[in-house]
Amino acid sequence: MNIAFIGFGGVGQGLAEILEEKRDHLKTEYGLETKVVAVSDVMKGAVYDPDGLSIPELLRAVREEGSVEEYPDAQSYGWDSLKTIQESNADLIVEVTFTDVKTGQPAIDHCEAAFKHGKSVVTTNKGPVALKLDELQTLADENDCFFGFEGTVMSGTPALRLPKTTLMGNDIQEVVGILNGTTNYILTEMEQGMSFDQALKQAQEYGYAEADPTSDIEGYDVRYKTAILSHYVMGEAINALEISCEGIADMTQEKIQEAKAEDKKWKLLARIKKTDNGVRAYVAPEKLDINHPLAGVKGATNAILYECDLSGPIMLTGAGAGLKETGFSLLIDMIHAHQAKKSIIVR
Ligand code: HSE
Repeated sequence: MNIAFIGFGGVGQGLAEILEEKRDHLKTEYGLETKVVAVSDVMKGAVYDPDGLSIPELLRAVREEGSVEEYPDAQSYGWDSLKTIQESNADLIVEVTFTDVKTGQPAIDHCEAAFKHGKSVVTTNKGPVALKLDELQTLADENDCFFGFEGTVMSGTPALRLPKTTLMGNDIQEVVGILNGTTNYILTEMEQGMSFDQALKQAQEYGYAEADPTSDIEGYDVRYKTAILSHYVMGEAINALEISCEGIADMTQEKIQEAKAEDKKWKLLARIKKTDNGVRAYVAPEKLDINHPLAGVKGATNAILYECDLSGPIMLTGAGAGLKETGFSLLIDMIHAHQAKKSIIVR
């Protein structure tokens, strides 16, 4: 599988490291052999056809020299991502650019260009999935391409694939999730007496928070994840901006301690429920009884509870962020892309 990285920040580099570490395992277990044929990153210059560059050399070039553009033997096309997508001989595009979730750009343009050129896409950008899932999936299908986006919700914890595969046959009536690590970390630390600002500062230092933590604190990050779950898992497309959304900006130590005295815990929840009038979704802090399965989820951990008609409640917990974990989500998609392509060939 020839792959091109469009965007090569922490997540892309995390995936590159995994591909190197797991090279033998991927080959023997799945017959998957990967080769990086292009890297394009606005911040770091671009390489087109970095033939002869191993992944460790590529990572060294980016990390130590700051740019891969100057690398000997690298044929550069500037940082034109679209050109790299169109002209490189990649089979699969790893789309991990810095993308504005409100517009989904430039990731949406990158996905469209890739599919039109017969190239599969794996991405961790929420915008393309929250805003244009049907259009992009149709374009991918028309061009026999694979579209993978497992990492858009709970990074490498398979919140999207689990209900669509292992839980198949169930009617999932409600999905309830703790889908933001920063806010869960803040709420957990506040229970131990830390102030909101101090806990936020720590979450930023640990790298959980978005560049602008407003999107974590106000619940906007969860709102987009809720839109993705509603569409992909519950079958109803909802405009993210129409999802009622309240964050934890108003949380106080007093409210936290009050809940503690009642044997309760505040959690920022996404709720997506099937009703007689269609799917209803909202994001808001809720006081949960300490015996509720989501009440025990601590720190930056995420969790999701699927209320299924046959199997009953099924809960999945795990990391919702992190470079390795998010890199892993891309690997899951790549393996599926590889297997999907093989089954197309077999048919
Ligand atoms: N800032 C997010 C979080 C990262 O805290 O969970 C993943 O979207």
